Amino acid sequence: MEEKKRMLSGIQPSGELHLGNYLGAIKNWADRVNDYECYYFMADLHTITVRQDPAELRKRTLTQLALYIACGLDPEKNTLFIQSHVPAHAQLAWILNCYVMFGELSRMTQFKDKSAKHSDNVNAGLFTYPALMAADILLYQADYVPVGEDQKQHVEITRDIANRFNGIYGNVFKMPEPLISKIGARIYCLASPESKMSKSAPGGCVFLMDKPEDIARKFKRAVTDSEVGHCVYFDKEKKPGVSNLMNIYSSVTGKTFEEIEKEFDGKGYGVFKPAVGEAVIESLRPIREKALELLADKSYLENVYKEGAKKASYIAEKTLAKVYKKVGFIPR
Ligand code: TRP
Repeated sequence: MEEKKRMLSGIQPSGELHLGNYLGAIKNWADRVNDYECYYFMADLHTITVRQDPAELRKRTLTQLALYIACGLDPEKNTLFIQSHVPAHAQLAWILNCYVMFGELSRMTQFKDKSAKHSDNVNAGLFTYPALMAADILLYQADYVPVGEDQKQHVEITRDIANRFNGIYGNVFKMPEPLISKIGARIYCLASPESKMSKSAPGGCVFLMDKPEDIARKFKRAVTDSEVGHCVYFDKEKKPGVSNLMNIYSSVTGKTFEEIEKEFDGKGYGVFKPAVGEAVIESLRPIREKALELLADKSYLENVYKEGAKKASYIAEKTLAKVYKKVGFIPR
């Protein structure tokens, strides 16, 4: 039998997971489990490039794991782990730091954005973030890396680093490919639908752990447009708010845009917005309930992340040992 291709991705526990993470990423991850060997982790090492409250970080990391599982990532079939539990990530990151150039790192748009946003804390970790991300990916010899459009540049620099390293030492790293989630799955902010749904605009962001009444309120307040007739149809340019809501509604119900247009024909936004809210509430309800149940059973979650770290370490250590040997370190 042919070996399954390997898939790897991570999300930083820098904020609570939201509808955009679910529909744009995690939901698709769960569907891939039978065709790929899958590794998903909480990128806690990356998270401290921006100052965090330690207790909050611990809580969010564990909640994120519970939500991964609640969203359908079966820990028996996927390797779920916490990045800091596998020391090889930090170890390989150091080495890759010596194979990525100052100039390359300076050109990263995320670095430019984040250093502008956190101008009081432009630390070296923020700058070398891509070397750690390259380590995450290359340690597992991943074939595919599902990420959002904003992370594409980081997968590209990973490929550049891998190419450079392989050019010097032979074939050490597999060349990973980014898998950019489809346009259909891109979810925008409910309050300003030109920008991506983000935890930094909580009013327009539906968190997976939000209570149903909060979700309902956020959808009732969702920004639409003032077109006469309040017609529900898809036009991303002219009607970004309505189009985003249609996208969300379609993602959670499986209905096509055509079916949605028909369903709300002549009904207006006053009927449409709460209907989308209700559909989202119903699709998130089992996820939230399952996550709460898992969070009440800490020993189960502990078991999952310990097993995950064990499985991940096994693969990661193999690659790291190879790299140590190639660069000329004496084996212990
Ligand atoms: N940088 C990614 C983000 O902020 C998270 C991440 C870290 C990641 N390491 C990764 C994603 C490895 C994919 C593969 O979204």
